[in-house]
Amino acid sequence: MFWVKAMKSLGISGVPGVGKSALASKLSRELGLAVVELSEFAISKGYVIAYDSDRGSYIVDENRLGKAIAELAEVQGPLIIVGHYVEIVPRDVLELVIVLRKSPVELIHILEKRGWNSKKVAENVEAELLAICTVNAVEELGEDMVIEVDATAKTTEELALEVLDIVFGEKPAYYGNTIDWLEKLDKEKLAYVLSYIEKNLAQY
Ligand SMILES: Nc1ncnc2c1ncn2[C@@H]1O[C@H](COP(=O)(O)OP(=O)(O)OP(=O)(O)O)[C@@H](O)[C@H]1O
Ligand SMILES: [Mg+2]
Repeated sequence: MFWVKAMKSLGISGVPGVGKSALASKLSRELGLAVVELSEFAISKGYVIAYDSDRGSYIVDENRLGKAIAELAEVQGPLIIVGHYVEIVPRDVLELVIVLRKSPVELIHILEKRGWNSKKVAENVEAELLAICTVNAVEELGEDMVIEVDATAKTTEELALEVLDIVFGEKPAYYGNTIDWLEKLDKEKLAYVLSYIEKNLAQY
């Protein structure tokens, strides 16, 4: 599989619950590449600086984490790198970043099923609505490095096929932020999502 050797690492971003880890496992089996979950890697290597108890999330030393990932890819070859802040990985290590997007309606359902509190769900749904992961990745890496894939109502197998098509150039690719839920959702769904965010973000 010379093409796998020739390619660089693949980044997978997107807010929690969009299916990054499920897709990464599938791609890992298809391509024979190892998966690195940025958050797990940061914790196990000691790159966590602090814990944000309000958000229930870790704050990591992005600089050291990015360098460590670059060194790992240097030694191991291409990786599948997963995380909602995958843009901390140096650009020259990456082939492409795929940002998974998911309808905020579906996302509310998935994150509530995890038992997360409504405020945390609302924060992440708002981030999805505003395409925060894409915007951050484009800002850090440049538009030509970032492609969005709509994961709404798709199986992991379907998503993996779509991503393989993009990576190996069999599908015309559109770079940067191409999915706008404000435009895509019908009026009722959008009203539901906006009121969910407004109601639950106000909580503390
Ligand atoms: N294509 C899919 N179709 C339906 N359900 C899926 C799909 N992919 C993942 N799921 C389910 O959706 C949930 C979120 O998936 P996953 O854990 O892979 O998301 P994630 O983006 O890695 O989230 P996190 O950033 O919190 O790790 C899981 O319960 C998973 O079983
Ligand atoms: Mg995950």
